[in-house]
Amino acid sequence: MTDKSKKRLYESGIIQEDITQLAKNLKSYHKHFENSTFLVTGAGGFLGNYITLLLRHMNQHHLHNKKLKAILLDNFITGYEQQIISDDHIVFRRQNVIEPVKLDEKVDYIIHAAGIASPVYYTKYPIETMDVGTIGTRNMLELAREKKVKSFLFTSSSEVYGDPDSRHVPTREEYRGNVAVIGPRACYDESKRYGETMCSAFWNVYETPVKMVRPFNVYGPGIRPDDYRVLPNFIEHALRKQPLPIHGDGRNTRSFCYINDGVEALFRVLFSEANGEAFNLGNPEPEISIQELAHYVQKAMPYPVEIVNIDPPHAVYAKSDPKRRCPDITKLSTVTGYKPRYGLEEGLKRTIAWFQEF
Ligand SMILES: NC(=O)c1ccc[n+]([C@@H]2O[C@H](COP(=O)([O-])OP(=O)(O)OC[C@H]3O[C@@H](n4cnc5c(N)ncnc54)[C@H](O)[C@@H]3O)[C@@H](O)[C@H]2O)c1
Repeated sequence: MTDKSKKRLYESGIIQEDITQLAKNLKSYHKHFENSTFLVTGAGGFLGNYITLLLRHMNQHHLHNKKLKAILLDNFITGYEQQIISDDHIVFRRQNVIEPVKLDEKVDYIIHAAGIASPVYYTKYPIETMDVGTIGTRNMLELAREKKVKSFLFTSSSEVYGDPDSRHVPTREEYRGNVAVIGPRACYDESKRYGETMCSAFWNVYETPVKMVRPFNVYGPGIRPDDYRVLPNFIEHALRKQPLPIHGDGRNTRSFCYINDGVEALFRVLFSEANGEAFNLGNPEPEISIQELAHYVQKAMPYPVEIVNIDPPHAVYAKSDPKRRCPDITKLSTVTGYKPRYGLEEGLKRTIAWFQEF
């Protein structure tokens, strides 16, 4: 495997283009960034890196004498330390968020994106996964309350729906889910569910202005190549000219959301007035099977690659793998005006181009 972890993300032409576009797409929200202080947990992760690069870009190109400040937290259980950026306005603190966080600075916005999202890693660290979703979320909510933030955003997951009944796909936020209490995915799914319940209680009891987003398969440049989630896995194999490994029969479906769309939606929710509310975050078009996704990757490559069906290497991909995943994003679109801008073909092209930049 090539070592893409060492490449600084902000050196990537593809990512710079994305960040510039993202700032334009959020133009009507620029006033919210002015003179604000953002706290971002999980800042060394996939979403955290794009969020941080956007904040830095805002200071460099849009905010002039009203620059924002950012405080970045991560313990690098899965993130990469070398991706962290800091300057006069952006500071990093190595912090495990399951420990209480003490800060002297004012904080206006908290984005709690720390988590252990990849099934391979949450299988390896189930206790840490539960702790970051529960104790970590509690600690961040306490901080939000103390600092009287303008808004707090919790990155939950589409996994709160477990393996949804087909009648509830595309899935709306009201669907209560079909989740195993004990099982290979429970440490992740249940901690996200509890995290949401805690957020909701802080809104009800203390009026802490919380919002929750439930991302559905966000992908794109900067995703950890050895993350083992399906897309980076396919692309890594394709670039090595090895067959794309499909776990099982490949009939399970997913809906993929390009990172720029995901981060745009996240900020639209953060800056909204929808306190106490949870939102699906994703792109419902297309809902495709893993088999079809492999064909998309095949088509995007300039040379032929094969596809191979293999036995799932982990229990988490065997029986417990949800059969369908597709968000209904009516609530997100109605409340925030969000519309996905990147189709799967374009997103894939950009992601593969990033993987090839090394
Ligand atoms: N990317 C997706 O498709 C997706 C889907 C559903 C949910 N989410 C959620 O969104 C958030 C961000 O996802 P991502 O794809 O960027 O994940 P990621 O794994 O790339 O990044 C998460 C970061 O959190 C850090 N972290 C974990 N535990 C921590 C702790 N106790 N203290 C401090 N830092 C800690 C990790 O080191 C990592 O840098 C996660 O909470 C994830 O569960 C993401």
